[in-house]
Parts: sequence; C-alpha cells; structure tokens
Amino acid sequence: MPQIFTASADTRLRAVGLVIVLLIFVAALFVGGEMDSTYATLVGWVKDQPVPFSHKHHAGELGIDCRYCHTTVDVGPEAGLPSTHICMTCHSQVWTGAPMLAPVRESLANNTPLQWQRVARLPDYVYFNHSIHIARGVPCVTCHGRVDQMPLMTRAQPFQMRWCLDCHRNPAPHLRPPSKVTQMDWSGWDENSKEHKAYGERMVTVYGLQPDKLDDCNICHR
Ligand code: HEC
Ligand code: HEC
Ligand code: HEC
Ligand code: HEC
Ligand code: HEC
Repeated sequence: MPQIFTASADTRLRAVGLVIVLLIFVAALFVGGEMDSTYATLVGWVKDQPVPFSHKHHAGELGIDCRYCHTTVDVGPEAGLPSTHICMTCHSQVWTGAPMLAPVRESLANNTPLQWQRVARLPDYVYFNHSIHIARGVPCVTCHGRVDQMPLMTRAQPFQMRWCLDCHRNPAPHLRPPSKVTQMDWSGWDENSKEHKAYGERMVTVYGLQPDKLDDCNICHR
C-alpha cells in the first residue's frame, strides 16, 4: 500500500495541530475570565518613568493638594499632568543638584516636557470628564485609590465599562461634599452611616441626577 502521508508532511501536520491547540487554550483563557486578571486590566502595574516621582512623598508626606499639579481637574475633562515649571517652583530651591532630578533640569533647559508614561488611560472611543465628577463630589480616591501612599503611581481600578456603570446606576453612596474630593483619608462619615446615606440621597435630588439615564450609551460613547 502506498503511503498517504510522507514523513515530513506528518511532522507539519502535527505542528499545525499543536498551534491550533495552543490558540484554543489562549482563547479559552480570555473568554474564561482572564480578561479580568491584572494582566488585562493593568491594576497595580508600575511603569518606567523618566523620574521616579513619588506621590507618597509629595501628596502624602508633604501634603501638596492634587490640584497644585493637576490644575485642570475641576474645570475640564482632563486632570492634566504638571509642567516642569511646577516642579521647579520647589526644585530650584530643594534638591537642586540631585542626579535623580537631572531629567527635570534638562526638560526645563531644553523646553521639552517630561514624557510621563500613563497608567490611568481609557481607550479612545470612551469619553470621560473629570470636572463633572469633581463638581458632584465623587472623590479622587474612589477611582485612583490611595495615591498618597504610592511611591510609584499604579492603576487602582480596572476602568472597565461595568465599573463605570455600577456607579452611574447608583451614585448616591459615592458622593461626598465637593470640598473634600482631594482628601484621600477623609473619614468625616462612616461608609455605612445614616448621615452618609442621607447626604447621598439628598444630593441625587439636588443635582438632579438621573441614574436610569446615566447608563445611556451616548454618555460615554459619543
Ligand atoms: C511644593 C514643593 C515641591 C514640588 C512642587 C515638587 N517637589 Fe519634588 N520634592 C520636594 C521636597 C521637599 C523633596 C524632598 C527633599 C528631601 O527629601 O530632602 C522632593 C523630592 C523629590 C524627589 C526625590 C525622591 C523623593 O521623592 O524623595 C524627586 C524625584 C522629585 N521630588 C521630583 C519632583 C517632580 C518631578 C516634581 C514635579 C512634577 C516635583 N518633585 C515637584 C518638594 C517639591
Ligand atoms: C507635586 C505634583 C503632584 C501632586 C501634588 C499630585 N500629583 Fe499626581 N502626578 C504628578 C506627576 C508628575 C504624574 C506623572 C508621573 C506619575 O505617574 O507618577 C502624576 C500622575 C498621576 C496619576 C496617573 C495618571 C496617568 O494616567 O498616568 C494620577 C491618577 C494622579 N497623578 C493623581 C493624583 C492625586 C489623586 C493627587 C492628590 C492626592 C495627586 N496626583 C497629586 C504630579 C503630582
Ligand atoms: C469617576 C472616576 C474618577 C475620578 C473621581 C477622578 N478620576 Fe482621574 N481619571 C479617571 C479616568 C477614567 C482617567 C483616564 C481618562 C482617559 O484616559 O481619558 C483619569 C485620568 C487621570 C489623570 C491622567 C491625566 C489626565 O488628564 O487624564 C490624572 C492626573 C488624574 N486622573 C487625576 C485625578 C485627580 C487629581 C482626581 C481628583 C481631584 C481625579 N483624577 C478624579 C477617573 C477618575
Ligand atoms: C463612583 C461613581 C462614578 C464612577 C466610578 C464613574 N462615574 Fe461618571 N458620573 C458620576 C456622576 C455622579 C456623574 C454626574 C452626573 C450628572 O451630574 O448628571 C457622572 C457623569 C459622567 C459623565 C457626564 C455625563 C453628562 O451628562 O455629561 C460622563 C461622560 C461620565 N460620567 C463618564 C464616566 C466613565 C467613562 C466612567 C468610567 C471610566 C465613569 N464615568 C465612572 C459618577 C461616576
Ligand atoms: C459610564 C460610561 C459608559 C456607558 C454609559 C457605556 N459604556 Fe461602553 N464602555 C465604557 C468603557 C470605560 C469601556 C472600555 C472598557 C475597557 O477598556 O475594558 C467601554 C467599552 C465598550 C465596548 C467595547 C467592548 C467592551 O466591552 O470592552 C462596547 C461594544 C461598548 N462599550 C458598548 C456600549 C453600549 C452598547 C452602551 C449602552 C448600552 C455602553 N457601552 C454604555 C463606558 C461606558
């Protein structure tokens, strides 16, 4: 009987088979919840920054308000990253010669902004707006975590659609007085206290929030 498959064809067939099995395995990982893993959501990941800027030091220990550096967070869609001039208001006086700050000095001298690697970013097809959240008293800590304890910036939340929707459909428990939004450790109210609950519910009425409309697709996909 003549051979149907030559030896080399047989090897090729096996190789193809192996690739198919691997592909199915990878696909199964994605479908089966691996999309929620920190690998996919980037929660807790650190990126290589031009300067090892510490929020723990600046926002936590030195107590500099978020808005000193993220100047547009309460007036526009973007929080904004600080210009080198903002760093230099202090670093032309403190730590002036530190090698760690060499990229900052170069950035000022050459008039080229520092290239920070973003950790909190949405895909381009999603619209987000900081100022409306700040005006309604949704605190930074809810979406960005305890930034004042981060030696290096990491992402605190998955930023997946259902995470946005969970709050949009029931915003009351997440609201606090807008003057307290940047205070990371604000504990004026116990999370589950009556006072907090009453405040949230009252503000939903005062602001005219419509949780049944806040999940309309065109709010975030415009
Ligand atoms: C309000 C003042 C102030 C501003 C604004 C400021 N810093 Fe600092 N920074 C300090 C002080 C104070 C220290 C600590 C010096 C020491 O430890 O003796 C420091 C330390 C540092 C260090 C050393 C590592 C550390 O955290 O201890 C780096 C790096 C640094 N700053 C980067 C920056 C960058 C980048 C900016 C701008 C985005 C900036 N700083 C803005 C006050 C400031
Ligand atoms: C002294 C200036 C300074 C202060 C004060 C400051 N930040 Fe920042 N922030 C930066 C710089 C510089 C970066 C970019 C480098 C990095 O990611 O660490 C940054 C990055 C971030 C990012 C990541 C953005 C992204 O997509 O990568 C978040 C979120 C953030 N800051 C939130 C806060 C919050 C909340 C506060 C107040 C508790 C705060 N920051 C206070 C300078 C500051
Ligand atoms: C409701 C959730 C939410 C709140 C509250 C919030 N942020 Fe953000 N923040 C985001 C999202 C989502 C992004 C990514 C936006 C994008 O990529 O379009 C982001 C991005 C950022 C960035 C990156 C630069 C930029 O302009 O996009 C900084 C800095 C930042 N936030 C700081 C803050 C500070 C400071 C506060 C509080 C005063 C705050 N955020 C409150 C969700 C939030
Ligand atoms: C912890 C609560 C909370 C989270 C999380 C949250 N939001 Fe919001 N969002 C609100 C509140 C409250 C408003 C104010 C609604 C109003 O005033 O009508 C709002 C308003 C908005 C608006 C403006 C709506 C308008 O009518 O113009 C956009 C856009 C938006 N959110 C996008 C997002 C996106 C995208 C995410 C996720 C990345 C997100 N939000 C996460 C609470 C939240
Ligand atoms: C409150 C904000 C918000 C609203 C409202 C919203 N989306 Fe999204 N959507 C997002 C965000 C954020 C992402 C990005 C998710 C990611 O990167 O994982 C997204 C992603 C998507 C994607 C890409 C695939 C995926 O699931 O990641 C599709 C499709 C989508 N949305 C459709 C819709 C439709 C249809 C509606 C209305 C029923 C809707 N969205 C309402 C915030 C929203």
